[in-house]
Amino acid sequence: MERTFVMVKPDGVQRNLVGDIVARFESKGFKLAGAKLMQISQNLAETHYGEHSDKPFFGELVDFITSGPVFAMVWEGENVIATARKMMGATNPQDADVATIRGDFGLTVGKNVIHGSDSEESAKREIELFFLNEELVDYQKNQDTWVY
Ligand code: TYD
Ligand code: MG
Repeated sequence: MERTFVMVKPDGVQRNLVGDIVARFESKGFKLAGAKLMQISQNLAETHYGEHSDKPFFGELVDFITSGPVFAMVWEGENVIATARKMMGATNPQDADVATIRGDFGLTVGKNVIHGSDSEESAKREIELFFLNEELVDYQKNQDTWVY
């Protein structure tokens, strides 16, 4: 079963959006494999966003993502990588459809509430970057029967 890395950014934690965001993924039918509240270090931020190191917004992005705790999660399910990106909406909340997380909760690209892996490769990389193997749980749940 596919897994993806999803993270409520510091603005989402400060604005009490963790519960709503977790509820959306739960209600959709995805299964939580791991989750933790954590403070991202400078080093982890720069590694996680390494692909953007040449961009003009890199410094602000690293400052923002380390500015307060984030809620890191691993979600599991069929096609969860692409579906989570759809549920998040466009990077710039002004372009994000209503009923997406960024469309419903965000106003600016700098504080866009949520991160989600954009491909199988980044999901694998980001899960390994943020979680130890023993922090991820493999278990049976009634939706294994009732969703699929
Ligand atoms: P990106 O990987 O392009 O977006 P996504 O989060 O949808 O995968 O960019 C990473 C983050 O960088 C994005 O969530 C917000 C920030 N960012 C800016 O601050 N300004 C920008 O112009 C862009 C493109 C991104
Ligand atoms: Mg990205």
